[in-house]
Amino acid sequence: MEQLIERAAKDLLDSKHAIALTGAGISTESGIPDFRGPSGIWTKDPDAERRAYRSYERFLADPKGWWQERLTIPSLLGDLEKAMPNLGHYALAELEKLGLLKCVITQNVDALHEKAGTANLIEYHGSLFKLRCMSCNSRFGRDEFDLEKLMSENQLPPHCSKCGGVVKTDGVAFGEPIPSDVAHQSLEEAWKCDLMLICGTSAVVHPFAQLPRIARQRKRERESETGLYVVEQVQAVTIVEVNAEPTPLTDEGISDYLIQGKTGEVLPQIVEEVKARLR
Ligand code: APR
Ligand code: ZN
Repeated sequence: MEQLIERAAKDLLDSKHAIALTGAGISTESGIPDFRGPSGIWTKDPDAERRAYRSYERFLADPKGWWQERLTIPSLLGDLEKAMPNLGHYALAELEKLGLLKCVITQNVDALHEKAGTANLIEYHGSLFKLRCMSCNSRFGRDEFDLEKLMSENQLPPHCSKCGGVVKTDGVAFGEPIPSDVAHQSLEEAWKCDLMLICGTSAVVHPFAQLPRIARQRKRERESETGLYVVEQVQAVTIVEVNAEPTPLTDEGISDYLIQGKTGEVLPQIVEEVKARLR
């Protein structure tokens, strides 16, 4: 483990454009369950997963009914308002402050990276603290709508103050397209990065799980001196996983190495090693 921590610290210090990709595993030490880990929400309740797969369809068919359910049934993730970041979130925020991490792309909807102080954050699956217009993609803070009042006055679903479109929670449901701005920014980062630190994700949900593959396989065409076109690898990328268990990225050799452990324990050790080397 120690050697891998040292290797990750060296790779970070050698990098020019390092980014982090995170999933539910980084928030379990904050008391928010993950989905597919040994005590994950879907692992324990496959019916809930099946219901989640139908959520977006239901929203499109009946946005009013969908909202009524949303406002009356507690979230499977628990009370996110009370959740606080853990040492894993703070470690990534510190790497950003050291100038070593350029961006965090998260699948999490819990806003804990933001609470930990990460500035350049891409919420790939949205945030449960925001709402989004389905027509113009505008985002709103949850407190910009009095949802309880709208429900009591039978005025659901909420509508966009900019274009009048129907508004949904910003969290991206299964089957729902990733908002174009987020998808575009994330692709750009996957193209630009020379180090990808992947923390606390099973890496099975697409299109997010494509990002490491895009970084690994990025190639470009150029015309050679003979006039023929050649395809060449764009600058190499180092892909490091920090996860409690191996993932398809480990098994398929997409990642260069896995540091198997808890993000809240491993990431602070990497930061300490980086700082020791900077002294
Ligand atoms: N440290 C490191 N790894 C951990 C920790 C921890 N403290 N806790 C859990 N893990 C690992 C689990 O073993 C698992 O491999 O993190 C991974 C979490 O994977 P998932 O539960 O599948 O979560 P995620 O990859 O974020 O899911 C992707 O699926 O359900 C949808 O929209 C939801 O964004 C989510 C998406
Ligand atoms: Zn709108």
